Amino acid sequence: MKKSLLAIFILSIGLVACGGGDSSSTTDPATSTEKPQSMIKKAVDPMLDKGVGPITSLTLDPVINQEMAARGAEIYQKMCTACHKPTERFIGPAPKGVLTRRSPEWVMNMILNPDGMVKENDQAKKLLMEFNGSPMANQNLTETEARDVLEYFRTL
Ligand code: HEC
Repeated sequence: MKKSLLAIFILSIGLVACGGGDSSSTTDPATSTEKPQSMIKKAVDPMLDKGVGPITSLTLDPVINQEMAARGAEIYQKMCTACHKPTERFIGPAPKGVLTRRSPEWVMNMILNPDGMVKENDQAKKLLMEFNGSPMANQNLTETEARDVLEYFRTL
């Protein structure tokens, strides 16, 4: 009870504060011209975008590890083919060539942390819109499993 009263109290302060803010928007228009400038977001090169999630740094060996790729292919068959076809768009995008469009960290984070990515990463938000709001499913892969799938993607 006490808590909810407090919440209402805080809420009403908020409302009053907001109201105050609105009425003060009649200030010098010269100061408001600075605002849009600082709000412009720089477009990030997708290849430099590592996304958000557990993977912060990942360097791929130039040589594809065939053992990892084979394990990855198996995991992919079981966990991903409901929505992904290797070389053509399906419910989700085709993974073929994904590493020419995305950084390895980004792809790993998309597999391991799709919910966080969609909330906080601009490229993931864009992708979700491209796929009409149908989200990438978290398949609860371990980091090792995700890494194997990534190696498989390199063979496509
Ligand atoms: C229930 C459907 C579904 C399943 C299962 C699924 N995905 Fe996805 N995935 C999507 C959709 C839809 C998108 C695009 C929309 C988005 O990302 O929000 C996507 C996007 C991706 C992307 C980003 C691709 C790009 O071009 O940027 C990767 C990588 C990915 N998925 C990997 C996987 C892997 C690996 C698995 C299996 C472990 C998997 N997905 C399972 C639906 C799914």
